[in-house]
Amino acid sequence: MRYFIGNWKMFGVPKSINILNKINSFHSKDKNRRKYRVIFTPPYTLLETYAKYFRNKRISIGSQNCYQKDLYSSNTAAVSPFMIRAVGAKYTLIGHSDNRSEGDTNDMLKDKVKFALKNNLKVVFCIGENKKDKKNNRTFSVLKNQITKVLEKKFNRNNIIVAYEPVWSIGTGKIPTKKELEKTTMHIKKVLKHLFKTKSPAVLYGGSVDGSNVEMFKEIRDIDGFLIGGASKSSKKFIDIIKNYYR
Ligand code: PGA
Repeated sequence: MRYFIGNWKMFGVPKSINILNKINSFHSKDKNRRKYRVIFTPPYTLLETYAKYFRNKRISIGSQNCYQKDLYSSNTAAVSPFMIRAVGAKYTLIGHSDNRSEGDTNDMLKDKVKFALKNNLKVVFCIGENKKDKKNNRTFSVLKNQITKVLEKKFNRNNIIVAYEPVWSIGTGKIPTKKELEKTTMHIKKVLKHLFKTKSPAVLYGGSVDGSNVEMFKEIRDIDGFLIGGASKSSKKFIDIIKNYYR
Protein backbone atom coordinates (compact mmCIF):
# COMPACT_ATOMS: atom_id res chain seq x y z
CA MET A 1 0.00 0.00 0.00
CA ARG A 2 1.20 3.51 -0.86
CA TYR A 3 0.16 6.72 0.92
CA PHE A 4 -0.29 10.24 -0.38
CA ILE A 5 -0.90 12.51 2.60
CA GLY A 6 -1.68 16.20 2.17
CA ASN A 7 -0.75 18.42 5.10
CA TRP A 8 -2.52 21.75 4.78
CA LYS A 9 -0.85 23.41 7.79
CA MET A 10 -2.52 26.84 8.30
CA PHE A 11 -4.57 26.79 5.11
CA GLY A 12 -8.21 26.37 4.21
CA VAL A 13 -11.77 27.54 4.86
CA PRO A 14 -14.99 25.51 4.48
CA LYS A 15 -15.21 26.03 0.71
CA SER A 16 -11.65 24.71 0.18
CA ILE A 17 -13.38 21.32 0.32
CA ASN A 18 -13.64 21.76 -3.48
CA ILE A 19 -9.94 20.97 -3.72
CA LEU A 20 -10.41 17.67 -1.90
CA ASN A 21 -13.54 16.88 -3.88
CA LYS A 22 -11.58 17.00 -7.13
CA ILE A 23 -8.91 14.77 -5.68
CA ASN A 24 -11.55 12.37 -4.39
CA SER A 25 -13.18 12.14 -7.85
CA PHE A 26 -9.83 11.48 -9.46
CA HIS A 27 -9.05 8.78 -6.91
CA SER A 28 -12.43 7.08 -7.37
CA LYS A 29 -11.87 6.69 -11.10
CA ASP A 30 -8.13 6.07 -11.15
CA LYS A 31 -7.20 2.63 -12.42
CA ASN A 32 -4.49 2.47 -9.78
CA ARG A 33 -6.90 3.42 -6.96
CA ARG A 34 -6.47 0.22 -4.98
CA LYS A 35 -2.72 0.70 -4.75
CA TYR A 36 -2.84 3.79 -2.55
CA ARG A 37 -4.64 5.75 0.16
CA VAL A 38 -5.18 9.50 0.23
CA ILE A 39 -5.27 11.24 3.61
CA PHE A 40 -5.62 14.97 4.27
CA THR A 41 -4.85 16.88 7.45
CA PRO A 42 -6.73 20.20 7.35
CA PRO A 43 -6.67 22.59 10.33
CA TYR A 44 -8.85 21.81 13.38
CA THR A 45 -11.53 24.28 12.23
CA LEU A 46 -12.38 22.02 9.26
CA LEU A 47 -11.97 18.57 10.78
CA GLU A 48 -15.58 17.84 11.61
CA THR A 49 -17.13 19.09 8.35
CA TYR A 50 -14.55 17.38 6.18
CA ALA A 51 -14.55 14.12 8.15
CA LYS A 52 -18.34 13.91 7.90
CA TYR A 53 -18.38 14.77 4.21
CA PHE A 54 -15.73 12.20 3.31
CA ARG A 55 -16.95 9.47 5.66
CA ASN A 56 -18.00 7.09 2.88
CA LYS A 57 -15.65 8.42 0.25
CA ARG A 58 -12.05 7.61 -0.60
CA ILE A 59 -10.23 10.40 1.25
CA SER A 60 -9.52 9.97 4.97
CA ILE A 61 -9.18 12.93 7.29
CA GLY A 62 -6.68 13.51 10.08
CA SER A 63 -5.50 16.27 12.40
CA GLN A 64 -2.11 17.96 12.31
CA ASN A 65 -1.36 17.49 15.99
CA CYS A 66 -3.06 16.49 19.23
CA TYR A 67 -2.72 16.97 22.97
CA GLN A 68 -0.78 14.35 24.89
CA LYS A 69 -3.09 13.41 27.72
CA ASP A 70 -6.60 13.76 29.20
CA LEU A 71 -9.89 13.51 27.33
CA TYR A 72 -10.60 17.06 28.52
CA SER A 73 -8.35 19.45 30.41
CA SER A 74 -7.98 23.08 31.36
CA ASN A 75 -5.33 23.62 28.72
CA THR A 76 -6.32 26.57 26.52
CA ALA A 77 -6.28 25.80 22.77
CA ALA A 78 -5.45 22.11 23.27
CA VAL A 79 -7.41 19.41 21.43
CA SER A 80 -7.28 15.80 22.59
CA PRO A 81 -7.20 12.66 20.41
CA PHE A 82 -10.53 11.73 21.98
CA MET A 83 -12.08 14.95 20.61
CA ILE A 84 -10.48 14.44 17.21
CA ARG A 85 -11.77 10.87 16.94
CA ALA A 86 -15.21 11.98 18.11
CA VAL A 87 -15.69 14.21 15.04
CA GLY A 88 -14.77 11.37 12.68
CA ALA A 89 -11.10 12.00 11.93
CA LYS A 90 -9.04 8.81 11.73
CA TYR A 91 -5.43 9.97 11.65
CA THR A 92 -3.16 12.47 13.33
CA LEU A 93 0.26 13.80 12.51
CA ILE A 94 2.60 13.81 15.50
CA GLY A 95 6.06 15.34 15.75
CA HIS A 96 6.00 17.59 12.70
CA SER A 97 9.12 19.75 12.75
CA ASP A 98 6.92 22.85 13.15
CA ASN A 99 5.72 21.43 16.48
CA ARG A 100 9.12 20.13 17.54
CA SER A 101 10.53 23.62 17.01
CA GLU A 102 7.72 25.04 19.13
CA GLY A 103 8.78 22.83 22.03
CA ASP A 104 7.41 19.30 21.58
CA THR A 105 9.94 17.07 23.36
CA ASN A 106 10.45 13.34 22.88
CA ASP A 107 8.64 12.68 26.15
CA MET A 108 5.65 14.72 25.03
CA LEU A 109 5.68 13.03 21.64
CA LYS A 110 5.73 9.60 23.26
CA ASP A 111 2.66 10.52 25.32
CA LYS A 112 0.94 11.90 22.23
CA VAL A 113 1.54 8.74 20.20
CA LYS A 114 0.41 6.55 23.09
CA PHE A 115 -2.74 8.55 23.73
CA ALA A 116 -3.64 8.91 20.05
CA LEU A 117 -3.36 5.15 19.53
CA LYS A 118 -5.41 4.52 22.66
CA ASN A 119 -8.15 6.72 21.21
CA ASN A 120 -8.15 4.79 17.93
CA LEU A 121 -6.34 7.31 15.80
CA LYS A 122 -3.72 6.13 13.35
CA VAL A 123 -0.49 8.03 13.85
CA VAL A 124 1.74 9.59 11.22
CA PHE A 125 4.90 10.12 13.22
CA CYS A 126 7.29 12.68 11.68
CA ILE A 127 11.06 12.58 12.05
CA GLY A 128 13.90 14.40 10.32
CA GLU A 129 17.34 15.88 10.73
CA ASN A 130 18.03 19.60 10.47
CA LYS A 131 20.66 21.30 8.34
CA LYS A 132 23.25 21.28 11.11
CA ASP A 133 22.74 17.57 11.84
CA LYS A 134 23.24 16.83 8.17
CA LYS A 135 26.36 18.98 7.91
CA ASN A 136 27.87 17.23 10.92
CA ASN A 137 27.07 13.77 9.57
CA ARG A 138 24.68 13.08 12.40
CA THR A 139 21.60 12.24 10.32
CA PHE A 140 21.56 8.51 11.17
CA SER A 141 22.01 8.98 14.92
CA VAL A 142 19.45 11.80 15.08
CA LEU A 143 16.83 9.72 13.27
CA LYS A 144 17.50 6.66 15.40
CA ASN A 145 17.18 8.75 18.51
CA GLN A 146 13.92 10.36 17.36
CA ILE A 147 12.45 6.91 16.71
CA THR A 148 13.66 5.01 19.75
CA LYS A 149 12.95 7.79 22.26
CA VAL A 150 9.30 7.89 21.19
CA LEU A 151 8.09 4.61 19.70
CA GLU A 152 7.80 1.48 21.83
CA LYS A 153 7.69 -2.16 20.83
CA LYS A 154 4.30 -2.55 22.44
CA PHE A 155 2.70 0.13 20.22
CA ASN A 156 0.59 -1.34 17.43
CA ARG A 157 2.84 -1.09 14.40
CA ASN A 158 -0.16 -1.44 12.06
CA ASN A 159 -1.53 1.90 13.26
CA ILE A 160 1.72 3.79 12.79
CA ILE A 161 3.20 5.38 9.69
CA VAL A 162 6.58 7.09 9.89
CA ALA A 163 7.19 10.19 7.77
CA TYR A 164 10.81 11.10 7.12
CA GLU A 165 11.00 14.84 6.53
CA PRO A 166 14.46 16.43 6.50
CA VAL A 167 13.82 19.81 8.14
CA TRP A 168 16.04 21.57 5.59
CA SER A 169 13.87 20.23 2.79
CA ILE A 170 10.46 21.34 4.06
CA GLY A 171 9.11 24.15 1.90
CA THR A 172 12.53 24.95 0.43
CA GLY A 173 12.48 23.15 -2.91
CA LYS A 174 15.64 21.29 -1.85
CA ILE A 175 15.49 17.50 -1.79
CA PRO A 176 18.04 14.86 -0.83
CA THR A 177 19.83 12.98 -3.59
CA LYS A 178 18.57 9.56 -4.59
CA LYS A 179 21.60 7.94 -2.99
CA GLU A 180 21.09 9.81 0.29
CA LEU A 181 17.43 8.84 0.35
CA GLU A 182 18.16 5.20 -0.36
CA LYS A 183 20.60 5.04 2.51
CA THR A 184 18.51 7.04 4.96
CA THR A 185 15.21 5.25 4.37
CA MET A 186 16.95 1.89 4.56
CA HIS A 187 18.42 2.97 7.90
CA ILE A 188 15.00 4.10 9.18
CA LYS A 189 13.40 0.79 8.23
CA LYS A 190 16.24 -1.12 9.87
CA VAL A 191 15.77 0.80 13.13
CA LEU A 192 12.00 0.26 13.01
CA LYS A 193 12.33 -3.46 12.20
CA HIS A 194 14.70 -3.87 15.09
CA LEU A 195 12.38 -1.99 17.43
CA PHE A 196 9.19 -3.83 16.53
CA LYS A 197 10.98 -7.18 16.03
CA THR A 198 8.94 -7.67 12.88
CA LYS A 199 8.18 -5.83 9.63
CA SER A 200 8.68 -2.07 9.64
CA PRO A 201 5.68 0.27 9.48
CA ALA A 202 5.27 2.21 6.21
CA VAL A 203 7.88 4.94 5.76
CA LEU A 204 6.98 8.06 3.79
CA TYR A 205 9.14 10.86 2.49
CA GLY A 206 8.17 14.51 2.96
CA GLY A 207 9.83 17.76 1.93
CA SER A 208 9.23 19.70 -1.31
CA VAL A 209 7.58 16.77 -3.10
CA ASP A 210 5.91 17.81 -6.36
CA GLY A 211 4.88 16.42 -9.72
CA SER A 212 8.29 17.08 -11.22
CA ASN A 213 10.42 15.21 -8.69
CA VAL A 214 8.14 12.36 -7.62
CA GLU A 215 9.35 9.99 -10.32
CA MET A 216 12.80 9.90 -8.76
CA PHE A 217 11.31 8.68 -5.47
CA LYS A 218 9.48 5.73 -6.94
CA GLU A 219 12.75 3.99 -7.66
CA ILE A 220 13.60 3.97 -3.96
CA ARG A 221 12.55 0.68 -2.40
CA ASP A 222 12.00 1.84 1.15
CA ILE A 223 9.68 4.80 0.41
CA ASP A 224 6.01 3.84 0.75
CA GLY A 225 4.49 7.23 -0.02
CA PHE A 226 4.62 10.94 0.65
CA LEU A 227 3.70 13.68 3.09
CA ILE A 228 2.96 16.68 0.92
CA GLY A 229 2.68 20.28 2.15
CA GLY A 230 2.76 23.07 -0.45
CA ALA A 231 1.60 20.95 -3.40
CA SER A 232 -1.41 19.63 -1.45
CA LYS A 233 -3.15 23.01 -1.60
CA SER A 234 -3.86 22.59 -5.32
CA SER A 235 -5.88 19.65 -6.64
CA LYS A 236 -3.95 19.73 -9.92
CA LYS A 237 -0.54 19.65 -8.24
CA PHE A 238 -1.60 16.86 -5.88
CA ILE A 239 -3.14 14.77 -8.68
CA ASP A 240 -0.01 15.32 -10.81
CA ILE A 241 2.06 13.77 -8.03
CA ILE A 242 -0.10 10.62 -8.05
CA LYS A 243 -0.24 10.48 -11.86
CA ASN A 244 3.50 10.87 -12.27
CA TYR A 245 4.21 8.35 -9.54
CA TYR A 246 2.27 5.65 -11.39
CA ARG A 247 3.38 6.66 -14.87
P1 PGA B 1 6.38 20.80 1.80
O1 PGA B 1 5.93 20.44 3.31
O2 PGA B 1 5.83 19.72 0.90
O3 PGA B 1 5.75 22.13 1.53
O4 PGA B 1 7.87 20.84 1.79
C1 PGA B 1 5.97 19.13 3.79
C2 PGA B 1 5.54 19.08 5.25
O5 PGA B 1 5.90 19.98 6.03
O6 PGA B 1 4.83 18.15 5.68
